[in-house]
Amino acid sequence: MSRAVVYETFGGPEVLELRDVPEPHAGPGEVRVRVTAAGLNPMDWIITSTPEAATVFGLTLPSGFGYDFAGVVDEAGEGADGFAVGDRVYGGAMAKAAADFLVMKAPTPGALFHTPDGIGDEVAATLPVAGLTAAAALDAIGLRSGDTLLVGGAAGGVGVFAVQLARLAGARVIGTASEGTFDFLRQLGAEPVTYGPGLADRVRALAPGGVTAATDLFGTETAEAALALGVPPERISTIAAGPNPPGGVRATGGEQATPADLERITDAVLAGAITVPIAATFPIERIRDAVTLQAGRHVHGKIVVTL
Ligand SMILES: NC(=O)c1ccc[n+]([C@@H]2O[C@H](COP(=O)([O-])OP(=O)(O)OC[C@H]3O[C@@H](n4cnc5c(N)ncnc54)[C@H](OP(=O)(O)O)[C@@H]3O)[C@@H](O)[C@H]2O)c1
Repeated sequence: MSRAVVYETFGGPEVLELRDVPEPHAGPGEVRVRVTAAGLNPMDWIITSTPEAATVFGLTLPSGFGYDFAGVVDEAGEGADGFAVGDRVYGGAMAKAAADFLVMKAPTPGALFHTPDGIGDEVAATLPVAGLTAAAALDAIGLRSGDTLLVGGAAGGVGVFAVQLARLAGARVIGTASEGTFDFLRQLGAEPVTYGPGLADRVRALAPGGVTAATDLFGTETAEAALALGVPPERISTIAAGPNPPGGVRATGGEQATPADLERITDAVLAGAITVPIAATFPIERIRDAVTLQAGRHVHGKIVVTL
């Protein structure tokens, strides 16, 4: 037997159960991963609590939980090209990550990667969704050196990557957060500004010369403020505005990033140019506490569950 987080009804963290389940095994063209770490994202609990979201991802009940994972290949079926027993791997597997073992196709382009030496499993498990989404959000607006970039929700899981990638690209970064988060943002290289009504005025005071690009990682407030500040819509991206973002701004997401984006991030992590703030680590037995903290929407960086 092995353990997996499962749920049988939609709801909050209380529906999540750590259960003994039959051990899965790798078939032809598949690998089995002994998972050691699972990174959490808002998507995980949004799916668990929203049947419509689960449908979008093709999930039905009962369901497993979690997407981002890291671990070691411990079974490789015939034809699992490029992956062998003992390989350290990380990636994304819908509704499978929070479990002792997961089985997936190998290769799975864009969702199964070799973990570089020098990057631990807990850090690797934070990278796929948040790292790729941050890269996509900046790619969508053609971020360049010399830009003054406004980032909405800059201290969250995606924000910590977006801020640091933008700084590495040579941009000045202004990031929205609550006041208690200001020091955290400064350490990442961003100039903090509080979110909420009057945002455009506060940003104008910080950057009298103007903002040249923006990415909104939390709702639509930052995108709207950027439009009010005269940033052209094609230089504003959003990842969390739903299907109809305001004023023609660019909606994007992790699926629009490339494996090269991830390599850029892992190279920067290895070089010490990007740090991955892990706000909290929970053993899998405390999955409900981990999800409760995540769903509160005031996390600075990432939450990781260990197995
Ligand atoms: N389209 C995609 O592919 C994709 C991928 C990943 C994520 N997303 C979506 O993008 C959003 C961000 O994801 P995430 O992982 O970064 O989330 P997260 O880690 O939960 O974000 C937490 C951060 O949001 C900040 N925050 C809270 N209330 C805010 C407000 N009213 N305005 C601005 N910031 C606020 C918090 O700052 P304080 O603590 O200072 O309040 C905290 O640092 C989520 O909605 C997620 O579903 C989309």
